[in-house]
Amino acid sequence: MRARYDLADRIAIVTGGAGGLGRGIAHALIEAGAIVELWDADCAALADAVAELGEGARARVLDITDAAAVEVAAQAVFKDHGRIDILVNNAGVLGEVKPVWETMPENFQRVLQVNLFGSYLVTRAVVGLMRRQPARASAITLHPLRGHVVNIASIQGKEGMAKAAAYSASKAGLLALTKSVAKETALDGIIVTAVTPAAAETAMAREISAERRADILGRIPMGRFVEVEEVARLVLWLSSDECSFSTGGIFDLSGGRATY
Ligand SMILES: NC(=O)c1ccc[n+]([C@@H]2O[C@H](COP(=O)([O-])OP(=O)(O)OC[C@H]3O[C@@H](n4cnc5c(N)ncnc54)[C@H](O)[C@@H]3O)[C@@H](O)[C@H]2O)c1
Repeated sequence: MRARYDLADRIAIVTGGAGGLGRGIAHALIEAGAIVELWDADCAALADAVAELGEGARARVLDITDAAAVEVAAQAVFKDHGRIDILVNNAGVLGEVKPVWETMPENFQRVLQVNLFGSYLVTRAVVGLMRRQPARASAITLHPLRGHVVNIASIQGKEGMAKAAAYSASKAGLLALTKSVAKETALDGIIVTAVTPAAAETAMAREISAERRADILGRIPMGRFVEVEEVARLVLWLSSDECSFSTGGIFDLSGGRATY
């Protein structure tokens, strides 16, 4: 029997929710009963995602690097629903796949801007609101819980990766952001975690060459890519009251590539 989570009436935000992993995560959250706001910059993909996910999904066209727009969006969700229970910082870009000396400074800046600064802006706005909302009564734990934040980092943020310095650095930064915010909110009942997936079959993975793909696959002891559903299942647990004492934790999803 599959593990079941009761997220009835929970309000969730999934950034990059129109993309491959974001859509899968949103699907799992909706199936568990949550209402999910998909925040994504891609208008057409958002419309497609909402049509696919059906009732329970809401679309908001948003560039997470726009501080003012993020603030307005967070306030709007809070006003509409009265609270925000779950934030999944998932929006991200890969950027140039080149050795550092061949890359453009604008690329480095852009990748950091979306993957790290954007996640910071969304966290800043949403966690600020989460802290102000009353703790929820939980059927699972007696300890007060106000919210869960899950950051989608990458195995490359742990290990680094040739030809992906900006991407790896942005994800390493996201891991440090996770641990820092977790310490700041530890007494507020806000659980902040991150996952570090290996490659998954999404639009992002399709950006790389066949040669690099084979190289990445060769680094994964289990000999395959992670499935979107496998990422979604872990994020689901991390978003639920079942996860009540693991704040600051970094959860691996790399098929044995990282043993730490
Ligand atoms: N696919 C992989 O192999 C893999 C592995 C490890 C981690 N990840 C991470 O998972 C997350 C999701 O990636 P994916 O594989 O689903 O890729 P994807 O390209 O399918 O989805 C990314 C989504 O983010 C959105 N986005 C990008 N910039 C944005 C911005 N500034 N504001 C709002 N939305 C923006 C895109 O429109 C897209 O819908 C990313 O953070 C990525 O780094 C992916």
